[in-house]
Amino acid sequence: MSLLEDHHGDILQKAREGKGLSLAEVAQSAGLTQTQLSQIEEGTRIPSPDQIQSLARLLGLKAKKLLAITHGSWAPQQPPRWLKEKVMIIQGEIGGYPVNGYILYDARAQEAACIDTAFDPEKMLKSTEAHHLHLKYILLTHAHQDHMGGVEILKEKTGAGLYLHQAELPLFSRQSRLTPDGFVADGQEISIGRLRLKALSTPGHTPGGVTYVSEGLCFVGDALFAGSTGRSMSSQGYRGLLTSLRQKVLSLPDETVILPGHGPTTTVGEENLHNPFF
Ligand SMILES: [Fe+2]
Repeated sequence: MSLLEDHHGDILQKAREGKGLSLAEVAQSAGLTQTQLSQIEEGTRIPSPDQIQSLARLLGLKAKKLLAITHGSWAPQQPPRWLKEKVMIIQGEIGGYPVNGYILYDARAQEAACIDTAFDPEKMLKSTEAHHLHLKYILLTHAHQDHMGGVEILKEKTGAGLYLHQAELPLFSRQSRLTPDGFVADGQEISIGRLRLKALSTPGHTPGGVTYVSEGLCFVGDALFAGSTGRSMSSQGYRGLLTSLRQKVLSLPDETVILPGHGPTTTVGEENLHNPFF
């Protein structure tokens, strides 16, 4: 079983919806029945290499990369060992569905920021306490429930400053009565001990999606997954998401570790080589 967050069908569906095309339109152009395409998108039917070629062409995906994911012949490498010295990966779950949150820390300064809550504030708290860290910030990549659930507990127990992008406030306010301590803007820098973190605006999955970049690390939330992207909110959002990922994430040095909101860690180099959206 693939370790990736998305199978070939998820990728095709995200690209089709991103392009604003119906199942019927794509099925017809690719010489498939709607049922066949629907089964492919659900992951219950493996498309032939020719079908992958034609679907990829229609949807603006890279066929070779999609073929590799379809046949499970690519998975990102294990993260580098040094990652543990700066980042704790917190895996929570919501309705049985796993979600990643991260604690970025400077052990010597005993300061930390969590990037999303992993829907598990208790696990976040235990992990910071076990390492004697002061949680200075709660930084949200976006305000979907699986990424911000439990933020009230985290804030109440630690007094950490809560930040997100201003365009994410309507979504946030539908789920929490908290008032954020401030907003992060594109290019804004944040310090955690001696670590510097920069917020980059990467909207498209949600209106105010943010990627946080720090010294060889890139916390993307649901903007990007290993071998895939997050679901876009609209066709315009899809185009914007791909553009901002290209310009702000995939232009970083190849060895930059990408830490997504779901699924395994990957790197900029691996995504440039293997992600069918690019
Ligand atoms: Fe999300």
